[in-house]
Amino acid sequence: MNTNIYTHSQPTDTDNNALVLKTVAFFGRALDEYMRIFSLTHAHLRGRRVLDVAAGPSSFTAEACALGCDAIALDPSYGMTVDALAGHIQIDYANMFAQIRAKPHLCQLRTFASIDEAEGSRRAASARFLGDYAAHFVHGRYVGGALPKLPFEHGEFDLVLCGHFLFTYAMLFDYEFHVAACRELVRVSRDEVHIHPVSDTAGRVYQHLDALRADLLHDGIESELIAVDQAFFGFFPDLCGYELKSS
Ligand SMILES: C[S@@+](CC[C@H](N)C(=O)[O-])C[C@H]1O[C@@H](n2cnc3c(N)ncnc32)[C@H](O)[C@@H]1O
Repeated sequence: MNTNIYTHSQPTDTDNNALVLKTVAFFGRALDEYMRIFSLTHAHLRGRRVLDVAAGPSSFTAEACALGCDAIALDPSYGMTVDALAGHIQIDYANMFAQIRAKPHLCQLRTFASIDEAEGSRRAASARFLGDYAAHFVHGRYVGGALPKLPFEHGEFDLVLCGHFLFTYAMLFDYEFHVAACRELVRVSRDEVHIHPVSDTAGRVYQHLDALRADLLHDGIESELIAVDQAFFGFFPDLCGYELKSS
């Protein structure tokens, strides 16, 4: 990995090389984007119990359940009313896409033809999420909770996913939080944990990634960095997405 992309600087309001997110955005993607960022195939999903942590308004869980997966989503915002969540979506999507349009050089659209198409996909995902949340929150498909402590038993899930939360918001959460969160994701998984990306909103790789992987290995948790041909935040054109996979 190219060590020149490591940095200690944090984005400021005037930083043209990062999206400035002062809080964690309530922003989410559709299943097809999850399949690419987490290197998943349908065999990972069908008939398996899958947990999406920091799921936000992603439609992954709704779509995966429709495909025969036993999927559950967890987010600190779950438990709010549908109207309150819709309000968060309205505010955070407006902020996110205003910044993306102001700093288009930060985004690798990859499979999207334009920012409009990327926005359309994510807005469709959030609409599907809201409908599914309204129908299935009472059935326990959407669980309120937050890392680094998850309300699940050891090894409850075949596969655990965590997208666009850990490492993405490294400016808001310290190293100890990241290590504890990774351990907790592994605790509730009996097979694999996939985390994406391993970089922040400027595409800069998490500066403590080597130390974190060494600490996890010390606990017997092996991890593997996997290059994926999908990364939305990418200031460095030669850096494609990286996924941290532990098993
Ligand atoms: C940008 S969204 C990611 C949504 C989805 N995983 C994706 O990749 O499209 C980040 C989510 O992390 C959630 N979050 C914030 N603090 C958290 C915590 N301590 N544990 C778990 N999720 C958290 C936020 O509520 C937000 O919905």
